[in-house]
Amino acid sequence: MKKVIAITNQKGGVGKTTTALNISAAMALEGERVLIIDSDPQGNLTSGFGIKKDQIKYGLYDVYSSGVSVDEAIMETEIPRLRVITANSDLFGAEIDLLEKNERETTLRQIIQPLRDEFDYIFIDCPPSFGLLTLNALVASKSVLVPVQCEYFAMEGLSLLIKLLWRIRGSFNVTLDLEGILLTMFNRHLALSHHIAEEVRKAFKAKVYDTAIPRNILLAEASGYGKPCIIYAPDSPGARAYAELAKEIINENRLLV
Ligand SMILES: Nc1ncnc2c1ncn2[C@@H]1O[C@H](COP(=O)(O)OP(=O)(O)OP(=O)(O)O)[C@@H](O)[C@H]1O
Ligand SMILES: [Mg+2]
Repeated sequence: MKKVIAITNQKGGVGKTTTALNISAAMALEGERVLIIDSDPQGNLTSGFGIKKDQIKYGLYDVYSSGVSVDEAIMETEIPRLRVITANSDLFGAEIDLLEKNERETTLRQIIQPLRDEFDYIFIDCPPSFGLLTLNALVASKSVLVPVQCEYFAMEGLSLLIKLLWRIRGSFNVTLDLEGILLTMFNRHLALSHHIAEEVRKAFKAKVYDTAIPRNILLAEASGYGKPCIIYAPDSPGARAYAELAKEIINENRLLV
């Protein structure tokens, strides 16, 4: 195992799930053994892989709340080396069940512990909120990848998130690190996109990935076909950007074993 990376931002619709889908697929295509965990009761990542309800025996909820073993919840995808743990609206219930547990913030960390030899990277797609599901993801992770939409108020949301990360580091996970900040939905024809990108790069410097993800309708369209864009339209600008990002992440972590 090299790393567990949570993909998170409390702001909705900034590209978390699109990033999770495509980066996990791109890294598996680069030869890494990848598990992606859908930790959002909206289940968008699960649908993004074209997984239908009747195909799912056990999802993340069953592992959290029904004592099902994590191995039983891991499903194959059409991409070699890429596995997924699914979510659906049942997962809302896990948040309530967790409230009654003693070790309520470390449950996911314990769940993935046995998978250390099986995967190189585990990604966790978080919901747009700061509840117990997000807290579990952040406590289970080594680092955090933050997609930021090139839109108004991006910086405000980002400052809040960074404050929260340091708080979690202080209280629950002393080694939690910022993996990187990813500019998403970048429109090179819009002055606003350039302005936000500049502001974020100025504030977070080397922590911002060189690769920015362009606004590209094929990224949205691919989900409708139940495939990561990197498979659906590999030559599209969006897919290419995620392939570049995968290389950046692998390169930055190349010394890890
Ligand atoms: N680079 C992009 N270009 C065009 N559309 C995009 C891009 N990235 C994401 N989208 C679309 O924008 C919408 C929101 O993206 P996504 O679901 O990835 O965000 P999210 O942060 O996971 O949302 P939520 O907070 O609800 O979980 C989706 O319809 C998605 O297909
Ligand atoms: Mg999402």
